[in-house]
Amino acid sequence: MTRVAVLVSGGGTNLQAIIDSVADGRITNASISLVISNNKNAFALERARKAGIKSMLISPKDYTDRKHFNQALIAALDESKIDLVVLAGYLVIIPPEMVEKYPNRIINIHPSLIPSFCGTGFYGLKVHEGVLERGVKVTGATVHFVDVGTDSGPIILQKAVYVKEGDTPEILQRRVMEEAEWKILPKAIDLFANGRLSVTGHKVHIEGEVEL
Ligand code: GRF
Repeated sequence: MTRVAVLVSGGGTNLQAIIDSVADGRITNASISLVISNNKNAFALERARKAGIKSMLISPKDYTDRKHFNQALIAALDESKIDLVVLAGYLVIIPPEMVEKYPNRIINIHPSLIPSFCGTGFYGLKVHEGVLERGVKVTGATVHFVDVGTDSGPIILQKAVYVKEGDTPEILQRRVMEEAEWKILPKAIDLFANGRLSVTGHKVHIEGEVEL
């Protein structure tokens, strides 16, 4: 059984998609052992409570410096014997020592088709604003392993979403979540938990067919 920690900062709709997928069997061989938030007001914490999942608030504000915050974060993962860390709308930079400790065992969801509209400064609504400003007709979401760069790790799954006439960043954000994020993030966790992912260099190989 893969022990999963989900790290969140906000509303937690991706966390909810994971909770629902574990409950209805779209994710097998995995349990959500821990939810960690850096933000005490994150609604994601409420979702964890409702689902009976252990949650922790670990905020940089409560530590004298980043070093101590990073240590607390890694200690929490170690204590819960976490196999897979899922960043689901987590707005804190992951410490390099954590990436080193969990090689190809941290995954992130990004709301664009990487390598477009990603990297420093592209988070939250800014991604969708960038998409609309550039006028691309197709966007989407990407799940990738986390390396020491920003949105630069090996890509696991991607799903395309059409941009429509009259879209606002908010409308587009919602469509990308519904049509892509809430599907590919749970799917990637299921693939990991069932040993179907392997990484060679910068490429992820998936065993068998994947339906999204
Ligand atoms: C999602 O768009 C995710 O891709 C991005 O932050 C947002 C989080 O939303 N990284 P939620 O907290 O899961 O509702």
